[in-house]
Amino acid sequence: MPSPIILAKKIYKTYQNNTLYVNALNGVDMELPQGALAMIYGPSGGGKSTLLHLIGGIDRVQSGYLEVDGVCLHSANEKQLTQFRRDKTGFVFQFYNLLPSLNALDNVCLPLLAKGESIKQARRKGLLVLQQVGLLDRQRHRPGQLSGGEQQRIAVARALIVEPVLVLADEPTGDLDSHSTIELMDLITSLNQNLGITFLIATHNIDIRSAATHLFEMKDGILKMI
Ligand SMILES: Nc1ncnc2c1ncn2[C@@H]1O[C@H](COP(=O)(O)OP(=O)(O)OP(=O)(O)O)[C@@H](O)[C@H]1O
Ligand SMILES: [Mg+2]
Repeated sequence: MPSPIILAKKIYKTYQNNTLYVNALNGVDMELPQGALAMIYGPSGGGKSTLLHLIGGIDRVQSGYLEVDGVCLHSANEKQLTQFRRDKTGFVFQFYNLLPSLNALDNVCLPLLAKGESIKQARRKGLLVLQQVGLLDRQRHRPGQLSGGEQQRIAVARALIVEPVLVLADEPTGDLDSHSTIELMDLITSLNQNLGITFLIATHNIDIRSAATHLFEMKDGILKMI
Protein backbone atom coordinates (compact mmCIF):
# COMPACT_ATOMS: atom_id res chain seq x y z
CA MET A 1 0.00 0.00 0.00
CA PRO A 2 1.49 3.40 -0.96
CA SER A 3 1.50 5.93 1.89
CA PRO A 4 -1.37 8.42 1.67
CA ILE A 5 -0.71 11.76 0.03
CA ILE A 6 -3.34 13.36 2.28
CA LEU A 7 -3.83 12.26 5.87
CA ALA A 8 -6.20 14.30 8.03
CA LYS A 9 -7.29 13.43 11.54
CA LYS A 10 -9.97 15.40 13.36
CA ILE A 11 -9.27 18.74 11.76
CA TYR A 12 -11.27 21.74 12.87
CA LYS A 13 -11.57 25.24 11.41
CA THR A 14 -13.57 28.13 12.82
CA TYR A 15 -13.79 31.51 11.10
CA GLN A 16 -14.19 34.54 13.28
CA ASN A 17 -15.52 37.88 12.07
CA ASN A 18 -15.86 40.25 15.01
CA THR A 19 -18.22 38.45 17.38
CA LEU A 20 -19.51 35.93 14.84
CA TYR A 21 -17.97 32.45 14.83
CA VAL A 22 -18.57 29.98 11.99
CA ASN A 23 -17.55 26.36 12.50
CA ALA A 24 -16.57 25.49 8.93
CA LEU A 25 -14.86 22.14 9.65
CA ASN A 26 -16.04 19.98 12.53
CA GLY A 27 -13.52 17.18 12.86
CA VAL A 28 -12.60 16.09 9.33
CA ASP A 29 -10.88 12.75 8.82
CA MET A 30 -9.48 11.96 5.39
CA GLU A 31 -7.06 9.52 3.85
CA LEU A 32 -6.28 9.73 0.15
CA PRO A 33 -3.72 7.60 -1.69
CA GLN A 34 -1.21 9.05 -4.11
CA GLY A 35 -2.48 8.98 -7.69
CA ALA A 36 -6.16 9.40 -6.79
CA LEU A 37 -8.60 11.54 -8.74
CA ALA A 38 -10.93 12.49 -5.91
CA MET A 39 -14.07 14.61 -5.85
CA ILE A 40 -15.88 16.25 -2.96
CA TYR A 41 -19.59 16.95 -3.33
CA GLY A 42 -21.97 18.59 -0.90
CA PRO A 43 -24.23 21.55 -0.25
CA SER A 44 -23.09 25.15 -0.41
CA GLY A 45 -21.44 26.21 2.84
CA GLY A 46 -20.56 22.63 3.75
CA GLY A 47 -16.82 23.36 4.01
CA LYS A 48 -15.38 22.13 0.67
CA SER A 49 -13.38 25.26 -0.17
CA THR A 50 -12.20 25.59 3.42
CA LEU A 51 -10.83 22.05 3.33
CA LEU A 52 -9.06 22.66 -0.02
CA HIS A 53 -7.44 25.81 1.38
CA LEU A 54 -6.11 23.91 4.39
CA ILE A 55 -4.80 21.02 2.28
CA GLY A 56 -3.15 23.53 -0.08
CA GLY A 57 -1.43 25.35 2.78
CA ILE A 58 -3.30 28.59 2.00
CA ASP A 59 -4.84 28.60 5.47
CA ARG A 60 -4.10 26.82 8.74
CA VAL A 61 -6.01 24.22 10.71
CA GLN A 62 -7.26 25.24 14.15
CA SER A 63 -6.58 21.83 15.62
CA GLY A 64 -6.02 18.27 14.47
CA TYR A 65 -3.43 16.51 12.33
CA LEU A 66 -2.92 17.31 8.64
CA GLU A 67 -0.12 15.75 6.64
CA VAL A 68 0.20 16.30 2.88
CA ASP A 69 2.92 14.51 0.92
CA GLY A 70 4.93 14.01 4.10
CA VAL A 71 4.68 17.62 5.27
CA CYS A 72 2.96 18.17 8.63
CA LEU A 73 0.90 21.26 7.87
CA HIS A 74 -0.62 21.50 11.36
CA SER A 75 2.81 22.22 12.82
CA ALA A 76 4.62 23.85 9.85
CA ASN A 77 6.09 27.33 10.29
CA GLU A 78 5.45 30.13 7.77
CA LYS A 79 8.59 29.37 5.78
CA GLN A 80 7.75 25.68 5.47
CA LEU A 81 4.16 26.52 4.51
CA THR A 82 5.28 28.92 1.77
CA GLN A 83 7.72 26.33 0.44
CA PHE A 84 4.99 23.68 0.49
CA ARG A 85 2.57 25.92 -1.44
CA ARG A 86 5.14 26.79 -4.09
CA ASP A 87 6.64 23.34 -4.62
CA LYS A 88 3.97 20.75 -3.95
CA THR A 89 0.58 22.01 -5.05
CA GLY A 90 -1.21 23.70 -7.89
CA PHE A 91 -4.60 25.42 -7.59
CA VAL A 92 -7.34 25.70 -10.21
CA PHE A 93 -10.33 27.99 -9.51
CA GLN A 94 -13.81 28.38 -10.98
CA PHE A 95 -13.07 31.71 -12.66
CA TYR A 96 -9.55 30.87 -13.89
CA ASN A 97 -7.85 33.81 -12.06
CA LEU A 98 -5.60 34.64 -15.03
CA LEU A 99 -4.06 38.10 -15.30
CA PRO A 100 -5.87 39.84 -18.19
CA SER A 101 -2.88 41.94 -19.28
CA LEU A 102 -0.50 38.99 -19.70
CA ASN A 103 -0.55 36.53 -22.56
CA ALA A 104 -1.13 32.81 -21.97
CA LEU A 105 2.56 31.93 -21.81
CA ASP A 106 3.40 34.63 -19.27
CA ASN A 107 0.37 33.71 -17.13
CA VAL A 108 1.57 30.12 -17.06
CA CYS A 109 5.10 31.21 -16.08
CA LEU A 110 4.04 33.23 -13.01
CA PRO A 111 4.50 30.50 -10.35
CA LEU A 112 8.09 29.92 -11.49
CA LEU A 113 8.89 33.63 -11.52
CA ALA A 114 7.52 33.80 -7.96
CA LYS A 115 10.00 31.08 -7.06
CA GLY A 116 12.84 33.14 -8.49
CA GLU A 117 13.49 31.25 -11.74
CA SER A 118 14.72 33.25 -14.74
CA ILE A 119 12.24 34.34 -17.42
CA LYS A 120 14.11 32.29 -20.00
CA GLN A 121 13.92 29.11 -17.94
CA ALA A 122 10.28 29.77 -16.96
CA ARG A 123 9.24 30.29 -20.61
CA ARG A 124 11.01 27.10 -21.67
CA LYS A 125 8.97 25.12 -19.13
CA GLY A 126 5.89 27.20 -19.93
CA LEU A 127 5.96 26.06 -23.54
CA LEU A 128 6.11 22.43 -22.39
CA VAL A 129 3.05 22.70 -20.17
CA LEU A 130 1.13 24.65 -22.82
CA GLN A 131 1.84 21.73 -25.14
CA GLN A 132 0.56 19.31 -22.46
CA VAL A 133 -2.79 21.12 -22.32
CA GLY A 134 -2.97 21.39 -26.13
CA LEU A 135 -2.70 25.19 -26.36
CA LEU A 136 0.82 25.81 -27.61
CA ASP A 137 -0.57 27.72 -30.59
CA ARG A 138 -2.38 30.18 -28.28
CA GLN A 139 0.71 31.20 -26.28
CA ARG A 140 0.59 34.84 -27.42
CA HIS A 141 -3.13 35.30 -26.79
CA ARG A 142 -4.43 37.14 -23.75
CA PRO A 143 -7.18 35.60 -21.58
CA GLY A 144 -9.81 37.87 -23.18
CA GLN A 145 -8.99 36.34 -26.59
CA LEU A 146 -9.60 32.78 -25.35
CA SER A 147 -12.78 30.83 -24.61
CA GLY A 148 -13.69 29.87 -21.04
CA GLY A 149 -12.60 26.29 -21.65
CA GLU A 150 -9.26 27.43 -23.09
CA GLN A 151 -8.70 29.81 -20.17
CA GLN A 152 -9.31 26.97 -17.74
CA ARG A 153 -6.80 24.77 -19.59
CA ILE A 154 -4.29 27.65 -19.32
CA ALA A 155 -5.04 27.72 -15.57
CA VAL A 156 -4.32 23.97 -15.45
CA ALA A 157 -1.02 24.58 -17.27
CA ARG A 158 -0.15 27.27 -14.70
CA ALA A 159 -0.84 24.73 -11.94
CA LEU A 160 1.32 22.11 -13.69
CA ILE A 161 4.40 24.25 -14.25
CA VAL A 162 5.80 23.65 -10.76
CA GLU A 163 5.45 19.88 -11.31
CA PRO A 164 3.08 19.52 -8.35
CA VAL A 165 2.31 16.23 -6.63
CA LEU A 166 -1.22 17.44 -5.95
CA VAL A 167 -3.60 19.70 -7.87
CA LEU A 168 -6.53 21.18 -5.94
CA ALA A 169 -9.44 22.38 -8.06
CA ASP A 170 -12.34 24.36 -6.61
CA GLU A 171 -15.42 24.05 -8.85
CA PRO A 172 -13.25 23.96 -12.01
CA THR A 173 -16.16 23.26 -14.37
CA GLY A 174 -18.55 25.74 -12.70
CA ASP A 175 -18.21 28.32 -15.47
CA LEU A 176 -17.90 25.92 -18.42
CA ASP A 177 -20.42 24.58 -20.94
CA SER A 178 -20.82 20.83 -21.34
CA HIS A 179 -18.36 20.56 -24.26
CA SER A 180 -15.58 22.42 -22.41
CA THR A 181 -16.35 20.42 -19.28
CA ILE A 182 -15.73 17.16 -21.16
CA GLU A 183 -12.49 18.53 -22.64
CA LEU A 184 -11.26 19.66 -19.22
CA MET A 185 -12.11 16.34 -17.57
CA ASP A 186 -10.39 14.42 -20.40
CA LEU A 187 -7.29 16.55 -19.77
CA ILE A 188 -7.41 16.03 -15.99
CA THR A 189 -7.94 12.28 -16.39
CA SER A 190 -5.00 11.98 -18.77
CA LEU A 191 -2.69 14.02 -16.48
CA ASN A 192 -3.78 11.82 -13.59
CA GLN A 193 -3.23 8.55 -15.43
CA ASN A 194 -0.13 9.44 -17.44
CA LEU A 195 1.79 11.64 -14.99
CA GLY A 196 0.40 10.22 -11.74
CA ILE A 197 -0.62 13.67 -10.45
CA THR A 198 -3.18 13.44 -7.64
CA PHE A 199 -6.28 15.61 -8.10
CA LEU A 200 -8.75 16.74 -5.45
CA ILE A 201 -11.77 18.50 -6.92
CA ALA A 202 -14.58 20.27 -5.05
CA THR A 203 -17.64 20.33 -7.27
CA HIS A 204 -21.43 20.43 -7.60
CA ASN A 205 -21.29 18.91 -11.10
CA ILE A 206 -22.65 15.37 -11.03
CA ASP A 207 -21.90 14.89 -14.75
CA ILE A 208 -18.15 14.55 -14.02
CA ARG A 209 -18.34 12.07 -11.17
CA SER A 210 -17.66 9.04 -13.38
CA ALA A 211 -14.06 10.27 -13.75
CA ALA A 212 -13.46 9.98 -9.98
CA THR A 213 -11.50 7.21 -8.30
CA HIS A 214 -12.64 8.42 -4.84
CA LEU A 215 -15.87 10.22 -3.93
CA PHE A 216 -16.60 12.20 -0.77
CA GLU A 217 -19.51 14.18 0.58
CA MET A 218 -18.96 17.22 2.77
CA LYS A 219 -21.84 18.53 4.84
CA ASP A 220 -21.89 20.73 7.95
CA GLY A 221 -18.11 20.52 8.14
CA ILE A 222 -18.01 16.73 8.21
CA LEU A 223 -16.48 14.61 5.40
CA LYS A 224 -17.77 11.17 4.47
CA MET A 225 -16.64 8.76 1.79
CA ILE A 226 -19.49 7.82 -0.59
N1 LIG B 1 -13.45 33.98 5.36
C1 LIG B 1 -14.54 33.53 5.97
N2 LIG B 1 -15.04 34.17 7.07
C2 LIG B 1 -16.14 33.71 7.70
N3 LIG B 1 -16.84 32.61 7.33
C3 LIG B 1 -16.39 31.94 6.26
C4 LIG B 1 -15.22 32.35 5.51
N4 LIG B 1 -15.03 31.48 4.49
C5 LIG B 1 -16.01 30.57 4.58
N5 LIG B 1 -16.83 30.83 5.64
C6 LIG B 1 -17.98 30.04 6.11
O1 LIG B 1 -17.53 28.70 6.31
C7 LIG B 1 -18.52 27.78 5.91
C8 LIG B 1 -17.92 26.84 4.85
O2 LIG B 1 -17.68 27.60 3.68
P1 LIG B 1 -16.98 27.00 2.38
O3 LIG B 1 -16.71 28.14 1.47
O4 LIG B 1 -15.84 26.16 2.78
O5 LIG B 1 -18.16 26.07 1.80
P2 LIG B 1 -18.28 25.33 0.37
O6 LIG B 1 -18.68 23.92 0.66
O7 LIG B 1 -17.06 25.57 -0.41
O8 LIG B 1 -19.52 26.09 -0.29
P3 LIG B 1 -19.82 26.35 -1.88
O9 LIG B 1 -20.34 25.04 -2.42
O10 LIG B 1 -20.87 27.41 -1.85
O11 LIG B 1 -18.56 26.80 -2.53
C9 LIG B 1 -19.71 28.59 5.41
O12 LIG B 1 -20.64 28.72 6.45
C10 LIG B 1 -19.08 29.95 5.08
O13 LIG B 1 -20.01 30.98 5.22
MG1 LIG C 1 -16.67 26.54 -2.19
